[in-house]
Amino acid sequence: MEPLRSNEKGFLCPGCGVLQGFEAVLPTGWAKCSNCGADILVRTKVKEKKIKDDTKRNKITPLSKRWIRRSDNTAINKVIDNPNCSFLGVQSDQPFTAFYVWEKFFLKYGKKMQRFIEFGCDTGGTSVYFALQCLNLEAQYIGFDRRKPEVYKNNPTKRLVQLHKKMVYGNGYEKAKQIKHIIQDDGRTVIFADCIDKPWEFKMFAPMLKSGDILAMHDWDRAIKDEWVEPETMVALTPYRLLYEEERLGLNTLTKFFLKE
Ligand SMILES: C[S@@+](CC[C@H](N)C(=O)[O-])C[C@H]1O[C@@H](n2cnc3c(N)ncnc32)[C@H](O)[C@@H]1O
Repeated sequence: MEPLRSNEKGFLCPGCGVLQGFEAVLPTGWAKCSNCGADILVRTKVKEKKIKDDTKRNKITPLSKRWIRRSDNTAINKVIDNPNCSFLGVQSDQPFTAFYVWEKFFLKYGKKMQRFIEFGCDTGGTSVYFALQCLNLEAQYIGFDRRKPEVYKNNPTKRLVQLHKKMVYGNGYEKAKQIKHIIQDDGRTVIFADCIDKPWEFKMFAPMLKSGDILAMHDWDRAIKDEWVEPETMVALTPYRLLYEEERLGLNTLTKFFLKE
């Protein structure tokens, strides 16, 4: 029998003309037509089907870095966990999935919150979101950045929340004492650390927290990792509780929440 040529989809059975998938081919090169049962010899070596590696599921794939595989192996939409979304049209450096977690966060921990510090604000889309949350919860929003968000683009949304009046400009790393002073005030402080040197920020802010305060460290496992943290810092933070770890790992939100107990 003349061996058949396969195309990228499969090959046609010479008996009945029905298209066969590659799965039908046996290792010997012989296959049975699933329609008429005829024996068919296929010439092209059939590519072995890649066996899915279960251990790699639920991890960020090295190729896209932004993709996560769920247990059912469907990739989360590339857009919603891309770290460049917008809030009310203002550019943010957060993925949409992060806003989902922040919504849950403010519902649960916002009521007791007195102030929210964003350390590193960039274009201000996330800052507008935090400032609006604070407005709603009657808390204070304070943003630290060396550059003014208006530098990028002033717009009505930023003016509406009077972002420029809530910002402290200049080198944030030189303002740590000021932040320590703010944190010591009564009531819950929440810090979102998202400047440039995350290990420095964690080392600086973690020991400052009082009971009930929360440190949300962005870019965990990217710009800071468990193994980079000095044991003394963890000792100073203890006792603490991690919040929303499932979301951080499952939705790739990158923010690790530490609640000081
Ligand atoms: C990753 S961006 C912040 C993103 C923002 N939190 C968001 O979610 O959209 C980091 C910011 O840190 C600021 N930054 C870098 N070095 C700084 C410094 N020494 N003092 C204060 N801000 C600094 C940059 O200007 C930049 O706006």
